[in-house]
Amino acid sequence: MSHPEKDFQLQTMGIGCAPLLAALHEVTFRGGEVWDATSFVSLLSVQGTEGTIALIDNNPVGFILSRTVLDETEILTLAVHPDFRRRGIGKSLVQNVLGKGKVFLEVAVCNNQAAALYGKCGFIKAGLRRGYYRDGSDAQVLVSSDV
Ligand SMILES: CC(C)(COP(=O)(O)OP(=O)(O)OC[C@H]1O[C@@H](n2cnc3c(N)ncnc32)[C@H](O)[C@@H]1OP(=O)(O)O)[C@@H](O)C(=O)NCCC(=O)NCCS
Repeated sequence: MSHPEKDFQLQTMGIGCAPLLAALHEVTFRGGEVWDATSFVSLLSVQGTEGTIALIDNNPVGFILSRTVLDETEILTLAVHPDFRRRGIGKSLVQNVLGKGKVFLEVAVCNNQAAALYGKCGFIKAGLRRGYYRDGSDAQVLVSSDV
C-alpha cells in the first residue's frame, strides 16, 4: 500500500502526557486490556522508560512506549488511533525505537495487524509466552533482526 506524504510529527513525551496516553490506549484497545492514566504515570516513572507520540496538527494520534535496561529495549505498548491507521505512523514509531539497538516485545498470537507491522520492521520470532495475557491467551516474543 502506498502512503500519502507524511503528515505527522513525532515528539518525545513526559509524564504529564499520561491522561492523553490513557485516552488513546482506551480507544485503541477497547474491549481488551486498557491501561489507565495511573498506570501510565507508574510506567513513565521507571528509569529507562521513554515515550514518543505522533501528532497531526498538534492532535495526538498514536504513541509508543519503550523501556531500556542495559543494552536491551522492550516495546511496552504501541497504539495508533483507528482513524489514522495505514499511513505509516506505527512503522515510524517502531523505527524510532529501533534506533536504540536490540529491541524485543510481546504481541498476542492473534494480533495479525501488529505482527505484519513488526515483520515489516524486521522483527523475527524468538519464543512463545503461554498465558501471558489476563484472558489466558499466548504472546509471541519478537526480536529485532538487524543488530
Ligand atoms: C498495529 C498498529 C500499531 C499499526 O499501526 P499503523 O499506523 O496502521 O501501521 P502502519 O501504517 O505504519 O503500517 C506499516 C505496515 O504494517 C503492516 N500493517 C499494518 N496494519 C496492518 C493490517 N491491518 N493488516 C495488514 N498489514 C498491516 C503493513 O505491512 C503496513 O505497510 P503498508 O501499509 O505499506 O502495507 C495499529 O493497527 C494499532 O494500533 N493496532 C491496535 C493496537 C496494537 O495491536 N498494538 C500493538 C500491540 S504489540
